[in-house]
Amino acid sequence: MRFAVFSDVHSNLEGLQAVMAEAERLDVDGYLCCGDIVGYNADPVPCVDLIRERKVACIRGNHERGLQDLEEGRLPNMNPLALEALHFTRERLPEEYRKWLASLPDHLRVEDSFYLFHGSPAHPDEYIFDPLEAAYAFRSLIADYPPPANLLCFIGHTHVCAAYSYEPEKRRLVELPVSDGCSCPIRPGAHYMFNVGSCGQYRGGIPAATFAVLDLEEMTLEYRFLSYDYAETQRKVLNAGLPVPLARRLGLGL
Ligand SMILES: [Fe+2]
Repeated sequence: MRFAVFSDVHSNLEGLQAVMAEAERLDVDGYLCCGDIVGYNADPVPCVDLIRERKVACIRGNHERGLQDLEEGRLPNMNPLALEALHFTRERLPEEYRKWLASLPDHLRVEDSFYLFHGSPAHPDEYIFDPLEAAYAFRSLIADYPPPANLLCFIGHTHVCAAYSYEPEKRRLVELPVSDGCSCPIRPGAHYMFNVGSCGQYRGGIPAATFAVLDLEEMTLEYRFLSYDYAETQRKVLNAGLPVPLARRLGLGL
């Protein structure tokens, strides 16, 4: 089985289409998304449509939970730009779409082989930016989620690709190098945590749409960094009246 794993689509149809087209070209067997399908950009409806059409297995991100907060009269814990985009998202999405997003789980075990989380195994809002934060997250993964699926997990939320391995017996945590096309062997005896970045608002300093391909037979994980038509996404953001910085950041990779 080979899975395309992506995250943080954020209503960016051009980024999502680029990832889907490449995953299709690679002839993967399934699609997985680590949350934040909506928010920030201008195409929530077409993105949800495409995700459902391709039967992508999804979890909720903080933007889906923020949407539910708005539905239930609570103020989401978000910065003003994200909040403005969330109000736009709520206006654009028909009720049935909002209900579908609210029905998604906060984490998912896939094939009894691995897990999907949004931020971290410890909490969906927690960011993992460095090996120390990854060490705490591995502690939660091992303590709170049963083997053998806790050997491997995927996360998003930071919008930056990163990979970590942890060997409990040696108490050794390693941050693995990540680049376009790099293939990481998944070795027995170690736990792995892969952040698949973002196909809708990458923040690693380049205007890319990223995802990863997990091969459960070869036991490898390969990252892909794609260029996509972000100028079109920027145009849609501005035409929709969304905040200008949300368009600008797409071109800067911030
Ligand atoms: Fe996000």
